[in-house]
Amino acid sequence: MGRNIGMWLYSNGGGDKIQKKIVKKLREREIETITDINLRHAVAKNNHIVHKKTNLEELDLFFSYNAGEQTQYQMFLYQALNRVIPMINSYDAFSLTEDKFQTSFLLQQHGIATPEFQLCHRDDGKQLQKIMNKWSKMVYKPTDGWGGVGLTKIESQTTLDMLMPFLNQMDLRFFYVEKFVDYDNTDFRVDIVDGQFVGCYGRKASPTDWRTNITSGGSVFMREPDDEIVEIAKKSAKVCGVDIAGVDIIYDLETEEYVVLEVNGIPAFATPEQEEMGLDFNKRKIDLIVDLIDRKTQ
Ligand SMILES: Nc1ncnc2c1ncn2[C@@H]1O[C@H](COP(=O)(O)OP(=O)(O)O)[C@@H](O)[C@H]1O
Ligand SMILES: [Mg+2]
Repeated sequence: MGRNIGMWLYSNGGGDKIQKKIVKKLREREIETITDINLRHAVAKNNHIVHKKTNLEELDLFFSYNAGEQTQYQMFLYQALNRVIPMINSYDAFSLTEDKFQTSFLLQQHGIATPEFQLCHRDDGKQLQKIMNKWSKMVYKPTDGWGGVGLTKIESQTTLDMLMPFLNQMDLRFFYVEKFVDYDNTDFRVDIVDGQFVGCYGRKASPTDWRTNITSGGSVFMREPDDEIVEIAKKSAKVCGVDIAGVDIIYDLETEEYVVLEVNGIPAFATPEQEEMGLDFNKRKIDLIVDLIDRKTQ
């Protein structure tokens, strides 16, 4: 019997065209693809996970490449499905990278520099106070956020005092804070697929923000990484176990070293506008993904 895979890929920002190319290249290798499998609409019935008429557990692989922010329901089925068929990215690796604390902790265990961080219980006001005295400037980060949303720079005791009532209201289990890194307000986004370097671009924060995210007003620019950056990105992807990764890296001016901010499990392909700017890694990325799917379904 031929090989069949399932896929869920975002369609905005040129994603629809990317999907067509991947499907075509897979077909050339006699791999058929069922697209638009959103686990939101799947149902688990005894030994099957059913989406429309497809028993997902009978697929040879599932390629999940849509919203980073998935609901608990989708993650629940992602986890169950990955117990019985291969998935890209694997559930374990994807859920790890969805959490910034878990990721930073693991990266540091493997000798990869990240911003200094601390995690403490929400009631441990004493510890938070200690951190504040030590660092003077820090960033409060939701561990499961994206796009720079919810990140708050805490520059003084006054900011902390102002923030506390809000945080207490939010019913959080813990506080995750990072030392504020003194950097030039630019970053490197390095794409890795299957352990190989795919491409890199830079993002620059807007003059009125300290975050480089596009959603925070940042802009993309062409940027070549040096060997050290590529090595850090490759190692980060490997440590996290992600087949596909977008690693965010900045240069710490104080410690004079590159630090990894986060590993993204669903880094976007270059948009048509970015391709026009000269970002030309899409073809290489597609080819590496097709090779990977081919290998994992042998
Ligand atoms: N510890 C830090 N010090 C200084 N700037 C930071 C720090 N952490 C994040 N930033 C800035 O905020 C942006 C978003 O942070 P990031 O950890 O990548 O979360 P997100 O998932 O929201 O993109 C980064 O691109 C960077 O510009
Ligand atoms: Mg980021």
